[in-house]
Amino acid sequence: MLSLIYVSSVGPQFREAELEPLAQAAATINVANGITGMLAYNGTHFMQLLEGEAARVEETLERIAADPRHSGLVVIRRDSRAARECPDWSMRAFLTPLAGAGSATRFAAGLPVSFAADTRVIFTSFASLPRVAA
Ligand SMILES: Cc1cc2nc3c(=O)[nH]c(=O)nc-3n(C[C@H](O)[C@H](O)[C@H](O)COP(=O)(O)O)c2cc1C
Repeated sequence: MLSLIYVSSVGPQFREAELEPLAQAAATINVANGITGMLAYNGTHFMQLLEGEAARVEETLERIAADPRHSGLVVIRRDSRAARECPDWSMRAFLTPLAGAGSATRFAAGLPVSFAADTRVIFTSFASLPRVAA
């Protein structure tokens, strides 16, 4: 099982309202490819976890990297894992940043129990970044 996490810069045309439709369209394709994962968006950057059979994940990543809705995609983790961390999410989107006392703890608690400790830290750190005006 290949588990991959990337970060990218959101394109200037992309609007927050497009996030949910994007994730739903992605989920439909991912079901056909046996891919699961999650997508976080903070207004300026995306962070996405993709997991599945290695060749499927790599070809999905190539398609995603060529998408004009973002740019500067950098893979920050590419690892072989024994099991899926998001077995029930074909693609689930989260709006961040987190705000207010305890929000990071609540966010981390809402992640699947199957999330590995490092993945939990990576996503919670990203989700805690303040929003910077584009
Ligand atoms: C941030 C972001 C995340 C995406 N995630 C996925 C994904 O998980 N799976 C997927 O098939 N496409 C995803 N897409 C969409 C692909 O870039 C692409 O539009 C889609 O796979 C259809 O490919 P095609 O236009 O070559 O037919 C994502 C796009 C963006 C901008």
